[in-house]
Amino acid sequence: MTSISEFTDILKDHINSTQIYSDEPLANHTYIKIGGPADILVETKTKDQLITVYQLAHRHHIPVFILGGGSNLLISDRGIRGLVIKNRADALKIAKFHGDIKAKKLHVDQAVLEAGSGVITNHLVRYSIDNGLEGLQFFLGLPGTVGGAIYNNSHYKHQLIGNFVHQVQVLDHQGHLKTYTQPDLKFRYDYSILQQTKELILSASFLLKGGDKQKLWDQATSYAKARAQTQPLSLPSSGCIFKNLTPDQAKQAGLKPDQTSAGFLIDQAGLKDTQIGQVKVSPIHANFFVNLGGGTASELKQLINLVQDKIKSKYHITLEPEVFFVGEEV
Ligand code: EPU
Repeated sequence: MTSISEFTDILKDHINSTQIYSDEPLANHTYIKIGGPADILVETKTKDQLITVYQLAHRHHIPVFILGGGSNLLISDRGIRGLVIKNRADALKIAKFHGDIKAKKLHVDQAVLEAGSGVITNHLVRYSIDNGLEGLQFFLGLPGTVGGAIYNNSHYKHQLIGNFVHQVQVLDHQGHLKTYTQPDLKFRYDYSILQQTKELILSASFLLKGGDKQKLWDQATSYAKARAQTQPLSLPSSGCIFKNLTPDQAKQAGLKPDQTSAGFLIDQAGLKDTQIGQVKVSPIHANFFVNLGGGTASELKQLINLVQDKIKSKYHITLEPEVFFVGEEV
C-alpha cells in the first residue's frame, strides 16, 4: 500500500507543489472555522486536475474526501485521513441560448449556463444576473460551491436550486463520464441522488429564462438583505444546523403545519444563547450555532446533542442535522 508521503511525491509529478498541503488544518477551509487536519489537501483548479487527482488516489487506495465550500460540514477535531480535494474547478459560461434580436438588442428567452462544480455559488448567481438570466437570483449570498449546492439541493425560502438544474456531469465509479438530466437527480428538500451514488460531481448546467437585469439585481439584493437581518452572518457558522420539520412532524409536535422552522422551535424552547465552550446558539437565529473563536467540533457536537435532547423532551421529535459529519472520531 502506498504511504501518505509516497503518495505526496506521486502527486508532485502531476500537480504543482504549491497546490499540495500536508497536515493542513481544515478549520482554515470551513465556514465555521472548525476541523482538524487533513493528511494531504490538494487544491484542484480545473476539471482535468480534479479527475487526475481523484483517479490517482483511487489507484493508490488513498481515501478521498471532496471539499466544496465547507459551509455545511462538521469536520471532527481529529480531521480527515487520506486526501482532501479542495475543488475549485471554476469554468463558467453560457453554453446555449434561444432568443432574437429586437431593435438591435438581443432578447434572450432561455439560456443554459454551465458551471464547474468548484465554482462559488455566489459567483454563479452574480454571473447569471449580470447576463440578464432569471432563476438563480434567490440564491445571492448563499455560501458554498456549485458541487455542494447540487449534492444537497441548496434552498432559500421555498426555492430549491435543483428546480433550475438542467443536467449534471459526473465521473462514475468505473471512471466514465456520465450525464444526469434533472429528473434523474431526484431532487427534494436537502436531497439529491448524488448523496446515494457518491459519484464525483464535475459540472452542472442550469436552464434559465431571460429577464431584466436591474429587476433581478433588486430582487436578489432584497433577499440577501432579508437574510442579513435574520441570520448571524458576521460570525463563523455552518448555516442552519438542523433540517426544518415536515408539516406532518410539526403536527405531531402540537404545532401549526406551517411552524416548521427548527430555529423557531429552538427559540421557543428558550435555547438561544446556550453555550458550550466557544460554540453558542445564536441569539439572532436559533438554528445557527456560532463559533465565538477557537470552538471545537467536540463542543459543537455536545451543543447539537443538548439541543436535540431538549427539543425531544419538549416536542417529542428528534431534530435531524442538516450538516454532514465527517472525519476521524476519537
Ligand atoms: N424564527 C424564530 N426564531 C428563530 C428563528 C426563526 O422565531 O430563532 C421564526 C421566524 O421569525 C419565522 C420562522 O421562524 O417566523 C421562519 O424563519 P426563517 O424565515 O428564518 O426560516 P427558517 O425556516 O428558520 C430556512 C432555512 C434557511 C434559509 C431560511 C430562509 C432550513 C433548515 N433553514 O430557515 O437555510 O436561509 O429558511 O429561506 O431549511 C441553511 O440551509 O443553512 C439555512 C440557513
